This record gives sequence, structure tokens and C-alpha cells, in this order.
Amino acid sequence: MLKKKDIVNIGDISNEDIFKVFENASKFKKKLSKEEKIKTMDGKIMTTLFFEPSTRTRLSFESAMHRLGGSVITVSEPKSSSASKGETVADTIRMASSYSDIIVMRHPMEGAARLASEFSSVPVINGGDGSGQHPTQTLLDLFTIWEKFGTFNGLHITMAGDLKYGRTVHSLIRALNRFDTTISLVSPESLEMPDHIISTLKNPEKVIKSKSLDEVLNSSDVFYVTRIQKERFVDLNDYAKVIGSYSFDIDTVSAMKETAIILHPLPRVDEISPEVDNDPRATYFKQAENGVFVRMALIDMILGGE
Ligand code: NCD
Repeated sequence: MLKKKDIVNIGDISNEDIFKVFENASKFKKKLSKEEKIKTMDGKIMTTLFFEPSTRTRLSFESAMHRLGGSVITVSEPKSSSASKGETVADTIRMASSYSDIIVMRHPMEGAARLASEFSSVPVINGGDGSGQHPTQTLLDLFTIWEKFGTFNGLHITMAGDLKYGRTVHSLIRALNRFDTTISLVSPESLEMPDHIISTLKNPEKVIKSKSLDEVLNSSDVFYVTRIQKERFVDLNDYAKVIGSYSFDIDTVSAMKETAIILHPLPRVDEISPEVDNDPRATYFKQAENGVFVRMALIDMILGGE
């Protein structure tokens, strides 16, 4: 039951609700393909507050709300809002929650979404809090995997890239580990998945740190590739040491299973070469498109009947 719930972490969504989201996302996807008009959010208002750059998350949330017949208010540039005058997140959220029915917020500080949810009188959705979590990205990642394989059980998923600062993988590993999956982690040593995340997983023994991508290339069903999160480095010299430390090109991809898929939350920098885009295993653009259907389902479940 997601009705009136805050979505701060992936732990806020049960497995049962994950499948409900899929069911509703598939339903909306079908309706939109038939150009059916949907009006379930008629009269409802969403506030989007993005204190960090975003393209897909923001646009797909706003598109989702419009597609449901609702409307969106936003601050186009946080620099132009009162946050730049020193207003606290708590005060900004108090106001936004009196202007709208649901708030989507992205913030550079880990924990900001939890704080916002405490001061809001309407549901808050975390659109990414620093290196914390990004639960709605996880829902669309899971949906994309589920559309391809119809299950999570028995899958081998490799997460590659910046596993230390990447919030998408911090949410995704928690969700996938709730199912019968094997997860391999490939990253530069300085960007490994934090121990405090692995040790609090339900099944930590099903997570394996791999020395290199080669070890897992022909056994993985899903490759989840991420960008090195330059903006989180305290010292850019450390960033310089890891730039270009891995990349997926045609040769890498040709060693993968025919049935494997490659995902990426985007934006990519140089982790996946553009020549891979035409390979049938490249699924990242479809994944981004799924963001609208999944977010429609989520909004509808939080503000609607279920
Ligand atoms: C991700 C994010 O903001 O965490 N992008 C997204 O929401 N699709 C990934 C990233 O910025 O690398």
C-alpha cells in the first residue's frame, strides 16, 4: 500500500508494491501507446524541487504528472529560489506542501529527503539525495529488467563503475538483494560499494566483489553501468586517477551473453561507447523511457485510490 506514503528509500516499498507498480506501469504504457487520455490526477498539483542538476528524473516526473492529467509547479533554478537567501529545506518544504499535493525533491545532501518528509504535510518522493538513494530510479531499473526476464530470481547482475558515490546503485543493490539474485561488483578500488551498505543487506553472501569485468562478462544477465560521480569528489586529483578506468565498447559487448542487457541510469560520460548503442543488448534508452510509465504508476498509487 503506497497511498499517501513518502518514498525516501527503496526500503519504503515492499516487494508486493514493486510488482503492483510494474502492473500499473504496464497498464499506463499500453494506454499511452493507444493515445488514451488519462485523468486520474485531474486537479492535483506536483511540486518539483531540484537543488541539483537533472534531466531525465525531473522531465519524466513532470511528464508523468501531466500525462495523468495533473499539473506541475516548479522552481526552474534553485539559485532563483529562497534557498539561495539561506532558507532551510524545512521551511521550503513547509511552503511547497501547502501549495501542492505531492513533492519530488533532489538535493545534494544525503538525508535531505528524509528531513523533507518530516516537515511536509504531503507525500515526498526522493529524486536523489547526495550519495544516499534514488528509489524511483531503482523502480524503473527493476521494471526494465522484469520486462526482459519476467523475474529476478536466478539472475546474475553486474554493477560497474562508481559504486561508492552512486546513489542509483545504493538503492538498486538493496532491492535486487531481496530477490534470489547474484550480484557482482566491479569498480576501481577507491570507488567500491561501501561496507555499511553490503553488511546491512538481507543476503550479503550473494554479493561478490570482482577484480575485473572480464571475470563476469560471459556470465552476467544484466550489466548496470554507472558514471563516476565527479561532483562528489573532495579532491579532483582523486577523480583524475579513476577517469576512464573502464569502458564498454563493441569488443566488451561481443563477449556478453546474447540475452544480456546493458543498463545505465544516464547521463553517460565515457563508460559506454556510442558504437554500443545499436547493439540489441543496449537497453539504456528504453530504460529511460520507462521512467515515465513507472513514475505515473507511482504517483497514481500514492495519490490515487490504491
Ligand atoms: C543519476 C543520478 O542523478 O543519480 N541520474 C539519473 O537520475 N538518471 C545518475 C548519475 O547522475 O550519474
